[in-house]
Amino acid sequence: DASDMEKGLYPHYMLKEIDEQPLVIRKVISKYQDSEGSIRIDAGLRNRLNEADRIYIMACGTSYHAGLVGKQLLEKIAGIPVETHIASEFLYNRPILSSKPFFIFISQSGETADSRGVLVTIKQLQYPTLTITNVPGSTLSREADYTLLTYAGPEIAVASTKAYTAQIAVLAILAFDVMRERERAPHVNPFHELSIAANAMEIMINKKEMMEEIVWQYLNASRNCFFIGRGVDYYVSLEGALKLKEISYIQAEGFAGGELKHGTIALIEEGTPAIAILTQAHVRANMRSNVQEIKARGAHVCTISMEGLEESEDHMVLPVVHELLTPLVSVIPLQLIAYYAAKYRGCDIDKPRNLAKSVTVE
Ligand code: G6P
Repeated sequence: DASDMEKGLYPHYMLKEIDEQPLVIRKVISKYQDSEGSIRIDAGLRNRLNEADRIYIMACGTSYHAGLVGKQLLEKIAGIPVETHIASEFLYNRPILSSKPFFIFISQSGETADSRGVLVTIKQLQYPTLTITNVPGSTLSREADYTLLTYAGPEIAVASTKAYTAQIAVLAILAFDVMRERERAPHVNPFHELSIAANAMEIMINKKEMMEEIVWQYLNASRNCFFIGRGVDYYVSLEGALKLKEISYIQAEGFAGGELKHGTIALIEEGTPAIAILTQAHVRANMRSNVQEIKARGAHVCTISMEGLEESEDHMVLPVVHELLTPLVSVIPLQLIAYYAAKYRGCDIDKPRNLAKSVTVE
């Protein structure tokens, strides 16, 4: 669709692509839901996944971060053990594989050489493979046994946004499809939960001024920034840090809340900006104490929490969504923070230095 390729009134593709995310999730829903409301997935793929005793997810960059969320989704919903690997590292540190492995490649472009390197090896071993990609007919799609498309439309900005959330939505649908014991998620309708998430994403997208204000307050003159979270919020903090690094060139790092005291807290000094993410009820108390610990050492903390877990001084409160789908919503303020930080610094947002949209060398 030619209109997808145009910025229209948007100053940057990245902002357009951030805004498109609720629509993309709704598109994913429509593509994977059949007329009876059930999940539409190739029967062969379903069988191969059901036979698998372990799933190995391979990806790079932002797709790797979606793969970390995918591990949670597949383990908690489907009940299958999952390992998520950085594709290039898998080749050097290949783990001892289970007896019935199934490989999932996640790649926006479907052309990433590091991921393809793994796919070529795995095909030689004749294990079943699935590619989750945004590009029909891409190399990884053609070479894998199965493909699931993310339907995000062309992603032009180098920093990936809508491809990440679309990948997570597809992984969630896949997890519900292979759910082995019904009691794992009784009465959960994945499409219903995803549409609630899409609405919540829209609400966050409409809070751009707040995000701009946060950037002004927290990141205006800083040379670094920390993102902290526990559980799935930790995975989102890695993605938030990557976005900020990629386009604003601010040194950023995502940390697991529990690990702070084991080293990182040494870096906190007066005025160090930190973004805390808190969407998971079971880690609430420990995350709150992390925030206190770093505040006490001078950190300038911006807290993004979820309704029901919020405190009055939190900077942003996300609408409630299914506890495993929170990354779809919590990543939006982080994408926007990166966007405005880059804008304030006058960076080339859509084409950051030294980066390529797809990397076809190992
Ligand atoms: C490049 C891009 C990243 C992307 C990564 C993986 O490094 O700059 O934004 O996440 O490749 O790309 P893929 O197309 O495989 O998802």
